[in-house]
Amino acid sequence: MMVLGVNGGALGGHLGGWRHRDSFPTTAMELPRMIAIAKLAEQGKLDLMFLADGNGVRQMDKPALFAANSPSDRPAVFEPVTLFAALSQHTTHLGFVATATTSYEEPFTIARKFASLDHLSGGRAAWNLVTTQYVEDAKNFGRDEHMGRTERYERARESLDVVRGLWDSWACDAFPQDKASGRYLDPTRVRLLGHRGRHFAVKGPLNVARTPQGQPVVFMAGQSDAGKELAAYGGEGLFGTASSKQEAQREYADIKGRMAKYGRQPEALRIMPGLSVYVGGTAAEADALFEELQSLISPALAVSYLSKVVGFDLSGAPLDGPMPQRRGESLGGTAIGRSVLDMAARDGLTVRGTYERVLPSMGGNMVKGDPGQVADFMEDWYRSKACDGFILSMPVEPRSLRDFVELVVPELQRRGLRPPDYRGPTLRDNMGLARPTHPFSDDSQGGKLPAKAVD
Ligand SMILES: Cc1cc2nc3c(=O)[nH]c(=O)nc-3n(C[C@H](O)[C@H](O)[C@H](O)COP(=O)(O)O)c2cc1C
Repeated sequence: MMVLGVNGGALGGHLGGWRHRDSFPTTAMELPRMIAIAKLAEQGKLDLMFLADGNGVRQMDKPALFAANSPSDRPAVFEPVTLFAALSQHTTHLGFVATATTSYEEPFTIARKFASLDHLSGGRAAWNLVTTQYVEDAKNFGRDEHMGRTERYERARESLDVVRGLWDSWACDAFPQDKASGRYLDPTRVRLLGHRGRHFAVKGPLNVARTPQGQPVVFMAGQSDAGKELAAYGGEGLFGTASSKQEAQREYADIKGRMAKYGRQPEALRIMPGLSVYVGGTAAEADALFEELQSLISPALAVSYLSKVVGFDLSGAPLDGPMPQRRGESLGGTAIGRSVLDMAARDGLTVRGTYERVLPSMGGNMVKGDPGQVADFMEDWYRSKACDGFILSMPVEPRSLRDFVELVVPELQRRGLRPPDYRGPTLRDNMGLARPTHPFSDDSQGGKLPAKAVD
């Protein structure tokens, strides 16, 4: 079954989306907007909501651009785990994928936050492990410079091992909470981690009981060679970046092919490229929305956004000259940036031509058309082994998600690509992921704490 998530955020996925008349009137720090999006996603039986994150406000060194616009510089955003804790109380089945960085957060804190969220949501939490995209974030954590990619990924792997080790601290039956005997916990049903590695020293145990999913799901997003290797080693969801179906097929085969050496089956990892959807009742309606949004972005803002995507400054480059190519290690550069540069080189694009392609999808893929055309695109990628599903980007919120839910979801269901209802209460159930075994207890009962009497 195709796995589907929405890339959350009330601002909308197009840089100009927040200015469109059908977008929310205001969005900064407004919980009701996020609740509305989560409920819409659940109405469409989507599996999950994904929230990217960072730890800094971008572009403060370019005051004119910063002042002009750009909510994408993230000046006012909820911390995602906190936000999802709130959203979990307004939904019943939607999974929540929150981003947290292994470069600047300690694994104990990560393990604790996500285990708590898994309990609060009844088994719907996922951690999107990132190594941090933006160099500026380093300056908020006592460093002048971002770590190099090798160090970041080394840390990421160690952090992942520590987090998973901590999630296994307690047996599922460790907390009898028996009033008669006075036995709150069973001290034989816990293990210390005792980790001492190159980057972290963590004694354990975690101060959170075994979670409803056994362990929260682990997503990843980097797709450099090191990123792919880490995904093969331990990812269960991957936010893909390929810019064409052929590239996506190559990446899919490559990453899944690396899993065997870690003793993993290909279906233990769901690869989900980003997909921006411009849908209307007719193809002409979808075109109109698209053109309207493109006209809301000035060239200066577009160039600044493109600079961020590719990881170097394009402000001096002529708009109608060839798109400059700068390769090699750039600390903030990402797989998306490299994929955009490849596309520009392959198709001989100018700077303007590149941003006109990048804006609608923020560097990912896009599809535009009537519901059948959108479903055709998604079905083709899914059936051609280019992906296991998609993380959808909605250009104008809440209009675009509502349109997708009302127009495209029924078509996908009709084609048997999406289930008529949720397949179970947890995110693992809905993504078709196996429950991890526990090293020293039988976790098959769901790792639930004993049912509490209701007063
Ligand atoms: C689709 C995608 C989404 C990402 N989301 C985030 C994010 O929300 N926050 C962040 O700090 N880094 C994010 N990253 C950055 C990655 O964690 C990683 O640091 C970066 O991609 C560089 O590694 P790479 O060369 O392996 O891609 C994302 C990367 C990709 C490709």
